[in-house]
Amino acid sequence: MDNYILAIETSCDETAAAIIKNGTEIISNVVSSQIDSHKRFGGVVPEIASRHHVEQMTIVLEEALKQANMEPNELTAVAVTEGPGLVGALLIGINAAKAFAFVHGLPLIGTHHIAGHIYANNLVQPMEFPLLALVVSGGHTELVLMREHGSFEVIGETRDDAAGEAYDKVARVLNMPYPGGPHIDRLAHEATEAVPFPRVWLEEDSYDFSFSGLKSAVINYKHNMDQRGEEIIAEHVAKGFQDSVVEVLTGKTVRAAREYQVKQVIAAGGVSANKGLRTALELAFKEEGIPFYVPPLKLCTDNAAMIGAAAYEMFEAGVRGNLDMNGRPGMELLSWK
Ligand code: KG4
Ligand code: ZN
Repeated sequence: MDNYILAIETSCDETAAAIIKNGTEIISNVVSSQIDSHKRFGGVVPEIASRHHVEQMTIVLEEALKQANMEPNELTAVAVTEGPGLVGALLIGINAAKAFAFVHGLPLIGTHHIAGHIYANNLVQPMEFPLLALVVSGGHTELVLMREHGSFEVIGETRDDAAGEAYDKVARVLNMPYPGGPHIDRLAHEATEAVPFPRVWLEEDSYDFSFSGLKSAVINYKHNMDQRGEEIIAEHVAKGFQDSVVEVLTGKTVRAAREYQVKQVIAAGGVSANKGLRTALELAFKEEGIPFYVPPLKLCTDNAAMIGAAAYEMFEAGVRGNLDMNGRPGMELLSWK
């Protein structure tokens, strides 16, 4: 019998619902973004995010069912992002999922947001193990090794800012609106030169990352130029910053892929939408002879389809949540195997 999972995602600033068939096929995928409401504050305001989720949740849920042309009694289970994320935002999705599951007598599955980002790839082509995932988003920068479905080993992570956070902060320095990643990416591609910024490799054998020093270097550069009464060239700063981020992310991912002899490398999370990063990883893994994949843009940034894809594997493994589920803002990425 076919499996249809209704998935909900509200961990940050997108209210999303999707229906996924057998873990790999998108039947519907609805995302309502609040970016415009947060732009004037230069970042996501948690209280505003929660209010938007309340307003949008039912509409988005109904739309996901409508686009799929499905009734609740045709569904197999309800999945929702349990964490990590903004607690007030998470709770809106979790309460909607609990109510829906209770009313329709469906099993409930609490999913990890990062597992979702990684499983977005399973909607495009089958995941093959051992697999290395570079997870780069507004809140995360991690290298995750997967030896089978549902098994996660975080072999490296950021010691300070996430890559996306660094992008957003540097964008602010350059007077670009939130979220800054796409703007820096565009400016970097328009540049003819790059301001030289440091590469932070940390200890020789470490797979950890650090981006706060690079961010400070950009801020210092701007201050020094201001003091000298000189104008900075935003394109050159953007390229200098992006080159540094891309070189370190790519370098560490290649080294880890070699060490763990993985069969597949994937990129996940909002920053994997970055053109510079995609190109560098594609080139590097072509040379390595290791298949590299990154999902289409729509599945890189927050969405519920990815949550449904991860939840399917959890469902198959027998994982079930309870109606006492709570938002877990600091939820760890643990194996469900
Ligand atoms: O995964 P995501 O949608 O939300 C989180 O779970 O954090 O990631 C959002 C982050 C933001 O920091 C945004 O600036 C960044 O992804 N981003 C990009 C690009 N598109 C989005 N960063 C660099 N280049 C891009 N093209
Ligand atoms: Zn995300």
